[in-house]
Amino acid sequence: IEETLVLVKPDGVARNLTGEILRRIEAKGYSLVDLRMLQADRELLANHYAEHEGKPFYEPLIEFMQSGPTVALRVAGNRVIEGFRVLAGTTDPTAAAPGTIRGDFGRDWGLKVQQNLVHGSDSIESAERELALWFA
Ligand code: GTP
Ligand code: MG
Repeated sequence: IEETLVLVKPDGVARNLTGEILRRIEAKGYSLVDLRMLQADRELLANHYAEHEGKPFYEPLIEFMQSGPTVALRVAGNRVIEGFRVLAGTTDPTAAAPGTIRGDFGRDWGLKVQQNLVHGSDSIESAERELALWFA
């Protein structure tokens, strides 16, 4: 069965949205397989966001992700990788459709990095790689 990594990022945890995000995942019919709350360190984040190294938002992103605890979820279900990204909505929370997590709860705060509440793996390869990192 397919699995994906979902992160409730530090802004989602700080805004007490962890339960609401988990509720949406479970209501959709996906299964929670594992969960942990942790303060991500720079090494983990550099690995996780390796594809973005050198981009203008990279440093602010790594800083922001270290600003508080993250909740990591291992979620399972047929086509869950695609399905969770639909639940999450597009990266830019201003443009994300209402009904999605980012569309309902996210906005642009005028910061150097988009704070968009959640992360979801974008392919089977990313999911395997990211799950191994966050659930080592
Ligand atoms: P994730 O699910 O978090 O990976 O989001 P994504 O797949 O929709 O976006 P992507 O992997 O391209 O970027 C990772 C994160 O970097 C995003 O979630 C944002 O927090 C931030 N980010 C991405 N693109 C931009 C951008 O153009 N500007 C700013 N300020 N932040 C960005
Ligand atoms: Mg991504």
